[in-house]
Amino acid sequence: MKKVITYGSFDLFHEGHYNLLKRAKALGDYLIVGVTTEQYDESRGKLNIVDSLDKRIENVRQSGFADEIIVEDHQGQKVEDVQKYGIDIFTVGSDWIGTFDYMEEFCQVVYLERTKNISSTKVRTLNHPIIRIGVIGTGRIAVRFVPEAKYVSGVIVNCVYNPNRESAHAFCDKFELDLGTDNLEEFWENIDAVYIASPHETHYEYAKTALKRDKHVLCEKPLAFKKAQAEELFALAHEKNRILMEAIKTAYCPGFAQMMGIAKSGVIGRICDVEACFTRLTPPEMRERTDVQYGGGFTEFGTHTLLPIMKLMGTDYKEVRFDSILDEKGIDLYTKASFVYENGMALSKSGVAVKSEGQLLISGTKGYILCESPWWLTQYFEVRFEDPSKKERYFCKFLGQGLRYEISDFAYMINGHRGRSYKFTEEESIAIAGVMERFMEQREGRRNNVCLK
Ligand code: CTP
Repeated sequence: MKKVITYGSFDLFHEGHYNLLKRAKALGDYLIVGVTTEQYDESRGKLNIVDSLDKRIENVRQSGFADEIIVEDHQGQKVEDVQKYGIDIFTVGSDWIGTFDYMEEFCQVVYLERTKNISSTKVRTLNHPIIRIGVIGTGRIAVRFVPEAKYVSGVIVNCVYNPNRESAHAFCDKFELDLGTDNLEEFWENIDAVYIASPHETHYEYAKTALKRDKHVLCEKPLAFKKAQAEELFALAHEKNRILMEAIKTAYCPGFAQMMGIAKSGVIGRICDVEACFTRLTPPEMRERTDVQYGGGFTEFGTHTLLPIMKLMGTDYKEVRFDSILDEKGIDLYTKASFVYENGMALSKSGVAVKSEGQLLISGTKGYILCESPWWLTQYFEVRFEDPSKKERYFCKFLGQGLRYEISDFAYMINGHRGRSYKFTEEESIAIAGVMERFMEQREGRRNNVCLK
């Protein structure tokens, strides 16, 4: 009996998949089809799978060509499967020519002619028109956003706005966009969604205007400096039936989501304490060190550290206390925010002129999770116990600058898959704005009496 194996995502099952399976089956007597998990696809950079694994398996089954269906969930599995199942022929479509030549060591490799003019990517774009994203701001983050968006299908960054016309034009030329403008009216007319990457204090106003203009909004952190403002923005998004997402990229990257899941799974017992630290030494001339009202360690990095705290300990803290080291202008160089909860506590450390170990430590009644710096780009973490030999290690993919994950989730949600909002909820976003508000009120008060150099 000649055994054949093939693999694919088989998302939005189409004619090309049907033809491939038919010809694969014709190569032998018994066909095994490997269907990829969403996590595996994500780890190899495919961020746009729409159908669930169940549905994709069912579609392959219904084609009637597969004698056996298996799940592919990790790199290197093909080599294992071919040996395990005693495969004679490995086959995939001609778009993969050359890629799997290494399999010839184990079996025959056949590249089948791909069916022209059809692909899952194409079906996705036919189902949903391309989302045109405009960028507000041309600074450090905006520059990283545009190349990352290229990895997400179904979106195109087509224009940029900056009140400074030269900056808008330079950015537009650099990234070959359709439009660079200092005219907001013209900007709104050309987009479906906006990525707000302007100075912090302008986020709220731009987000509000964008929502009023029926645009979906992905807004850099912090979304707002006042709880009521964040509430108002989410209420407006509901009213307009638009997506509003605060862009904390950590929340959307696969490793962080996995770590949150493991922490909540009970493996470390009841979570009692979360400590998160993020510091970056910033030159004194930078905005973070010169902007008296909106600069400083906590407004800059506090959103990062508050994210795991709010996700794991909840938004309903009983008390929060801030201790800061301020410079002569009253800007916080380093801030500790300590939270007290009904059943636990949490600590956020952030700084622009004090260096500390940037780790995330989640302590529970049975063990703890340690994610070392840079935990906000989660690639590796450990689950540890009293008995050191029980230590578990987790390695996770984090591609490029990581912004592609939040852009992908933003596009998914715009296209009606609202399920992904659990990664960073409206309630968490509003609670973080509330903490920011309390911090800023307190810092303002302290400026008059505490001043350390
Ligand atoms: N395939 C094919 N003809 C097509 C599309 C896909 O023969 N028009 C083959 C691929 O070469 C692969 C298998 O079908 O062997 C599964 O492909 P998959 O990657 O799941 O589908 P695509 O449509 O190529 O998906 P995407 O657009 O997301 O890359």
